Amino acid sequence: MNFRNAPQPIPYQGSKRQQVPVILGCLPKDVATLWEPFVGSGAVTIGAAAKCAAQAHVVGDSLEPLIGIWDLMLHCPDELCDRYEILWNAQLDDPRAYYDRVRDEFNEEKDPAKLLYLIARCVKNAVRFNAEGSFNQSPDKRRLGMRPALLRERVRQVNALLAGKATARAGDYSAALEAARPRDVVYMDPPYMGVSKARDSRYHQGLDYDRFVGLLAAANDRGVSYLVSFDGRCGTRSYGPGLPDDLELKKIEVHVGRSSQATLNGRSDETVESLYLSPALTRRLAASPVAQAKSISVRSPPQSSQLAVFDGR
Ligand SMILES: C[S@@+](CC[C@H](N)C(=O)[O-])C[C@H]1O[C@@H](n2cnc3c(N)ncnc32)[C@H](O)[C@@H]1O
Repeated sequence: MNFRNAPQPIPYQGSKRQQVPVILGCLPKDVATLWEPFVGSGAVTIGAAAKCAAQAHVVGDSLEPLIGIWDLMLHCPDELCDRYEILWNAQLDDPRAYYDRVRDEFNEEKDPAKLLYLIARCVKNAVRFNAEGSFNQSPDKRRLGMRPALLRERVRQVNALLAGKATARAGDYSAALEAARPRDVVYMDPPYMGVSKARDSRYHQGLDYDRFVGLLAAANDRGVSYLVSFDGRCGTRSYGPGLPDDLELKKIEVHVGRSSQATLNGRSDETVESLYLSPALTRRLAASPVAQAKSISVRSPPQSSQLAVFDGR
């Protein structure tokens, strides 16, 4: 399977799907286990599996029912799809009232199939939680969510790519950083930090910046190879703080393209997101053009002969 068309069964706002070719281009050839501890919809893990870029995979997320979806995709794909299909069909008489009922039930039971239905049906596929940790996003009034037949096709494809090679673990990202061995790579896409200290309702949990930096420093001391998607900018606006220089990370600016908002406003502002590589990973990539790159475009990822255009010279 071509990793550029890798299946996405979980439609998740904030998915790194667009950047998958760039991120996979930053992996060494000998990855034993690829860890993705902020997995969300797992665009990078699924793309890596389609490219056979690692021998094994561990996915993790602190949102437990989301890991429940991953567990079912890996071990009981048809059970997940059957349950989704029942929920999806049952909504047809009165989609709005049905969505509200499923949302209430999910907040009580934390059933993974109900979470998948809510993610597929909610506004912009954007999960939102209130301060008490309850899912509170509204339904999209114009769409009914991914059709069950399409979901089944995608779930079966992901199962074929990852079953027997992947493990799903609910919990904090620190466990992956601590468990990773020298031939492994940890890819991290933590929750958006924003510029204020206010809680970000996009995630059920925010990121403690100082703790994150401390854990990255400890991972550097142990020689862990990791990559982090972190801050970004669009035109003159920056999104979130960067990672500190004393971590000695290699920063690559990923040119993602014109933002849809800028396009609507007739501006040409481009979104640029930062990807940081740990010192151990940079050493493993020494012979690759990625080791010299300062910026890469999603339209000409590292494998491409056009890389020289973006190598920062
Ligand atoms: C930006 S999203 C990741 C999106 C992902 N790259 C994709 O392609 O869909 C961040 C994820 O981190 C999870 N998360 C938040 N805090 C966490 C923590 N302390 N440990 C592990 N996962 C966490 C959230 O539930 C969310 O799914």
